[in-house]
Amino acid sequence: MQFMKDLLLGYKMKKIIQLGLGNIGIEVIRQFLKLDPVVKSDFKYKAVMDSKNCIFKKNCLDDKDLRKLIDLKLSGKLDMSKYQHEKKKLIDSFGRKTIIVDVTASDETYPVILECLKNSGSAVLANKKLLAGEQKRFDVLKNASDSFDRIKFECSVGAGLPIIYSLKSLIKTNDKIKEIRGCFSGTLGYVFSELENGKKFSEIVRKAKDLGYTEPDPREDLSGKDVARKALILARLSGKKLELSDVKIDNLVPEKLRKCTVEEFLNNLSDFDKVFEKRIWKALVKDKRMRYTALVSETRASAGVIKADKYSEIGSLKGTLNMCVIRTRRYDNPLIIQGPGAGVKVTADGVLRNILEFKTSRF
Ligand SMILES: NC(=O)c1ccc[n+]([C@@H]2O[C@H](COP(=O)([O-])OP(=O)(O)OC[C@H]3O[C@@H](n4cnc5c(N)ncnc54)[C@H](OP(=O)(O)O)[C@@H]3O)[C@@H](O)[C@H]2O)c1
Repeated sequence: MQFMKDLLLGYKMKKIIQLGLGNIGIEVIRQFLKLDPVVKSDFKYKAVMDSKNCIFKKNCLDDKDLRKLIDLKLSGKLDMSKYQHEKKKLIDSFGRKTIIVDVTASDETYPVILECLKNSGSAVLANKKLLAGEQKRFDVLKNASDSFDRIKFECSVGAGLPIIYSLKSLIKTNDKIKEIRGCFSGTLGYVFSELENGKKFSEIVRKAKDLGYTEPDPREDLSGKDVARKALILARLSGKKLELSDVKIDNLVPEKLRKCTVEEFLNNLSDFDKVFEKRIWKALVKDKRMRYTALVSETRASAGVIKADKYSEIGSLKGTLNMCVIRTRRYDNPLIIQGPGAGVKVTADGVLRNILEFKTSRF
């Protein structure tokens, strides 16, 4: 009886291979460990990799192994380079039950993910780089995954918010996407909300950096490139063929400060406080709110500052919250998705939900 049970469970069991053991990767495993045993019973971690190590067990890692792995990683003692040679064996074992989870920020993971898809496996990506790289790569991933049936990438835009899910469903049911407008940068949302509260641009940026809202170099956020990548993913998902260079980007980093060090950038930013103060007040007196948005229309994609009506959906958005406003043939009165669009817990939750969605899939 037990033999039959094991055989049946083994047959159904999905094997997770996770690339990345940073903020999000650790939290995904923590949330996995807390899952209801019935929900968890169809999944096992087969391997976890960071940039140096590949921890792999033929019969899969149990809860004790996963807890130990997190402890070792957090204490800086994860040095399992002896497992490195197992990587090739691991790749050879890819099959229909494999789910590869990319929680890195690297584009080096592309060949491994492609290999998994080619061997009938599935993938979950929080990493935007693979989807916002060359159009050619995007097309290859789409074709290798049966038009994204075997890739889930909810957290590439708006963290755990169901933006990609909704868009995929609308497209599947033959709706026509007319326009997507959204605020997808918590950092830029914070910057504009604080400018409206009368704070100085240079002080806001420094505080956002101290609070961990920005990348180590805040220019990564202020340049609008991250928002442009998200616009590109949404545009491609809606069927457009575009490169990142086709997305018009409004760069908020003053031209003079684009090439210096981070320290020099932060020290000289106050020279531009008046410029931002003037821009924000010009909007405020007309009952407008400046918001950094991504736009995907029928003809183009862009990332930049708009002056939104104070009472509009986007104009009333405050702080670090994200929002996505989707207009389609059916949703002329738009479909609006709003909530926290960044953060370790909500992002890890989004990744885990994507993994669990494969429980009921036919793959
Ligand atoms: N934080 C958020 O709110 C949020 C929201 C949405 C999406 N995301 C995305 O989630 C991803 C992960 O973010 P994070 O904050 O967890 O980043 P992180 O803390 O920098 O972790 C990245 C992890 O990837 C590993 N890694 C790098 N190259 C690798 C490779 N070639 N193979 C295997 N592992 C590799 C790193 O290894 P080492 O530990 O050895 O360096 C590290 O463990 C990023 O793409 C980010 O954009 C984050």
